[in-house]
Amino acid sequence: MEVEMSEEIKQMLDENIVYLATSTTEGKPNVVPVGLAHAISDEEVLIVDVLFKKTRRNLEENPQVAISFTDVKRLESYQLKGKAKIFKNGEIFEKAFDIMRKKAEKRKESLGEIENPEISERARRISEMHKRLRPKAAVLITIEEIYSHIPKGVERR
Ligand SMILES: Cc1cc2nc3c(=O)[nH]c(=O)nc-3n(C[C@H](O)[C@H](O)[C@H](O)COP(=O)(O)O)c2cc1C
Repeated sequence: MEVEMSEEIKQMLDENIVYLATSTTEGKPNVVPVGLAHAISDEEVLIVDVLFKKTRRNLEENPQVAISFTDVKRLESYQLKGKAKIFKNGEIFEKAFDIMRKKAEKRKESLGEIENPEISERARRISEMHKRLRPKAAVLITIEEIYSHIPKGVERR
């Protein structure tokens, strides 16, 4: 039941904040923004759990998830549905460290581009906080369904 993500979808996952929806077994939903998401194959998205609370509890009782994101530059918007597996050690967990490191580098590069001094100072503090964070787990999502949020008629040809 796996489906393949296009190169563009994989790139958009890397470049945007994505929203991760989970739910309890009773069906109570929870949705959180996630910056540490990266496609590790055409069918798999790895998300780094550094701060998850309710999200983590939900993932442990119910592996069904949805990811939604919008790329305003490309005028594209997608929902991906899939099944999550939690890794607390091993190769997949180590990959989460790599993703965190690479994304931290990128963030450092973009710090200089912020012009508003107040926002720039907050960004610097957030960057400092990130240095102290360690992955608690890697969440591997196997993608099963892909939907475009773009209405028919204005989608890309
Ligand atoms: C822009 C942004 C990006 C975030 N990225 C992540 C992330 O990659 N990993 C993570 O564990 N938490 C991340 N968080 C924190 C989660 O969104 C959320 O606050 C955390 O999971 C606690 O909520 P919960 O109890 O509903 O799980 C991010 C928060 C923001 C505002």
